Amino acid sequence: MEPTPQPPRRAPEDRPRPGADPDAAPGHCPDPFRELSLADLRRRASAKWRVYPPDVLPLWIAEMDVPLAEPVARALTEAVALGDTGYAVGGPYGKALAAFAADRWGWHLAAERTAMVPDVMQGIVEVLKLITGPGDPVVVNSPVYEPFYLFTGHLGRRVVEAPLGPGHRVDPERLADTFRRVTAGGGRAAYLLCSPHNPTGTVHTAEELATVAALAGRYGVRVVADEIHAPLVAPGVPFVPYLTVPGTEDAFALLSASKAWNLAGAKAALAVAGPGAAADLARLPPEVSHGPSHLGVLAHTAALREGGPWLDAVLRALDAHRKLLTGLLAERLPGVRYTAEPGTYLAWLDCRGLGLGDDPAAVFLEHGRVALTPGHVFGTGGAGHARLNLAASPEVITEAVHRMAAAAEATAAPGRAPAGGSGPPSGH
Ligand SMILES: Cc1ncc(COP(=O)(O)O)c(C=O)c1O
Repeated sequence: MEPTPQPPRRAPEDRPRPGADPDAAPGHCPDPFRELSLADLRRRASAKWRVYPPDVLPLWIAEMDVPLAEPVARALTEAVALGDTGYAVGGPYGKALAAFAADRWGWHLAAERTAMVPDVMQGIVEVLKLITGPGDPVVVNSPVYEPFYLFTGHLGRRVVEAPLGPGHRVDPERLADTFRRVTAGGGRAAYLLCSPHNPTGTVHTAEELATVAALAGRYGVRVVADEIHAPLVAPGVPFVPYLTVPGTEDAFALLSASKAWNLAGAKAALAVAGPGAAADLARLPPEVSHGPSHLGVLAHTAALREGGPWLDAVLRALDAHRKLLTGLLAERLPGVRYTAEPGTYLAWLDCRGLGLGDDPAAVFLEHGRVALTPGHVFGTGGAGHARLNLAASPEVITEAVHRMAAAAEATAAPGRAPAGGSGPPSGH
């Protein structure tokens, strides 16, 4: 079998400088992942680049290796030039989200049923305070974004897992069973839906979400949908906002421009209430909306209003990165199972076939100097997995997989098949 075609293996340090993308067509945004060299990125002071030493390739935390979208950079530099660094006002952000949601997803959300919150996780905490009490259960679909456990636990709520089913889909029977158990005593319960799902990249279908809504209605479970990754769904794949699904009137959604425009350092998010949750949202204490920073609100508003063409360039590139990773793994690490799901830029790698134990990310870090997120932090179903961040240049992704393959080969257990090499792809 022919090896999968891949880009030449060039040291990431040799990457072209900004603006040098030969594929950039007139009228299109250039590929944002080809604008910054690894040397540029290593000058960043954010967590992705400062937690590990400089010999480690960081493909772990959900930051993107892109410059700011031009409209976002313009909004921020204009504010800095003006000294416009006072307190935030909410209206324009909610309206910008409403316009973006209508344009992209046909979702006509009511801007008056939105509230500014400091960020998505703090927004989830505040919404959970409105609809649950101390010790109440909050259902999650493991493996899932680790802070769902951390923030919910810190709030004094009880996290209950309803693990994803085959193919990383929400399992309706497990969900029904879990809803039945947690509501058996007649108490309040919430369900924290991750849509699209981090870490698997699953994009829930309209039918799946309708099933979720029906189950939540049957058992009286309040749904909070974390839709922070929603703008990052692959071209041609529909994203269905939870609040557009029939039967979701009493639900909440949390959104922001944070993931899609790489604005985690400029905090601001929005909570959106369905019509039946408007009274709950009205109980949100006004001080919660003092949390987002004015610069964050300006940046997120500009992204949603004017950042569409830039986002489209990101989505095209991410599609190519998923294919690149599939080919690289087939050639170099055929023992890894990976399904290129269309949501977000996170790749969920099942490394159990490599025989590296419960924490393959530790082996890749120690022996390959590549930082991935260890799978076990995502809860039940995460052991033996690792999450790889595809929001990097093709050269960095390529180098990372070569390093991972070398690490797996170096630690191969005696008698076990080699981790990679020139053998045929495993068909994942
Ligand atoms: C599913 C999910 N929710 C929330 C967040 C964090 O969002 P924020 O920084 O706005 O709290 C992330 C970050 O990666 C995420 O993946």
